[in-house]
Order: sequence, then C-alpha cells, then structure tokens
Amino acid sequence: MPIQIFTLLLAAGIALTSPAAFAQQKKALASSKAKAAETKVVGDADLAHRNKIAMCIGCHGIPGYKTAFPEVYHVPRIAGQQPAYIVNALKAYKAGERSHPSMRGIAASLSDQDMADLAAYYGVPAK
Ligand code: HEC
Repeated sequence: MPIQIFTLLLAAGIALTSPAAFAQQKKALASSKAKAAETKVVGDADLAHRNKIAMCIGCHGIPGYKTAFPEVYHVPRIAGQQPAYIVNALKAYKAGERSHPSMRGIAASLSDQDMADLAAYYGVPAK
C-alpha cells in the first residue's frame, strides 16, 4: 500500500500549497492590470479588423461613400485619416459634441480601446 499513502500525501501537499499559489497569481494579475491602466491606450488594427469594423463597413465601406438610410446622404471617408482625428471624432460623437444620430449611437457603444483599435485599422499614422 505504500503507493496509496504516497498519493495521499501528495494530494494533501497540493491542497496545502495551492491557496498560496492562488494568492500569488491574483497578486500578479492585479499588478499587470494596474500597469495596463497606467499605459496609454494603444490601438490594435488586427483586432479591429477581426472583430470591430463589421459595424462600420455598412456605411463607410460603400463605394462612393453614400448610404441610403434615412435618405441618400454622403458618408465621409475615414480610411486614411489620422488615427488621432478618428479617435477625436468618435469621442465627439459619444460626448454629443457632434450630433449625427447614427454616429452618436455607434460611438456610444465604443470603449476607448475600441476607438483606438478602429483608428489603428482605418487611420494612417502621421509621418
Ligand atoms: C449608419 C451609417 C454609419 C455607420 C454604421 C457608421 N458610420 Fe461613421 N459616419 C456616418 C456618417 C453619415 C457620418 C458623417 C456624420 C456627420 O456629418 O457628422 C460619419 C462620420 C464618421 C466619422 C467622422 C469623419 C470625419 O471626417 O469627420 C468617423 C471617424 C466615423 N464616422 C467612424 C465610424 C466608425 C469607426 C464606425 C464603426 C464603428 C462607423 N463610423 C459606423 C455613417 C455611419
């Protein structure tokens, strides 16, 4: 039976050490979160491409940049703008400083990170 006793001891050892390991993991996670909060929001164009532009291309991806709802109107080209310009425009819609209803609705649903990601995807950084 020595093997069974050994297994039992091993299990007890794991049970005793794991709360400490867990606490350490939690600490590491908290400090990495704090670091993320300190750093500036950096846009991820790839992430935007995969997950976030689906809600923009319906209007901003149309050849000629016209959309038909609620009436035919011109949609500005956003690809190739400065990323900072795109972020500022989105923030202005979200804050109500710009008043276009559909853009306000869309911008309201975007986080700072979403805006940075979208700007990184659509924008061309200043040279
Ligand atoms: C329902 C159609 C529609 C959708 C969807 C849409 N937009 Fe727009 N967007 C517009 C229109 C129309 C304008 C011009 C509004 C105005 O006159 O202020 C605009 C303006 C903008 C501007 C300002 C452009 C400038 O030259 O000042 C930005 C930036 C922008 N949109 C980004 C986005 C992003 C990013 C998304 C996706 C998250 C998106 N839009 C989704 C219709 C849309």
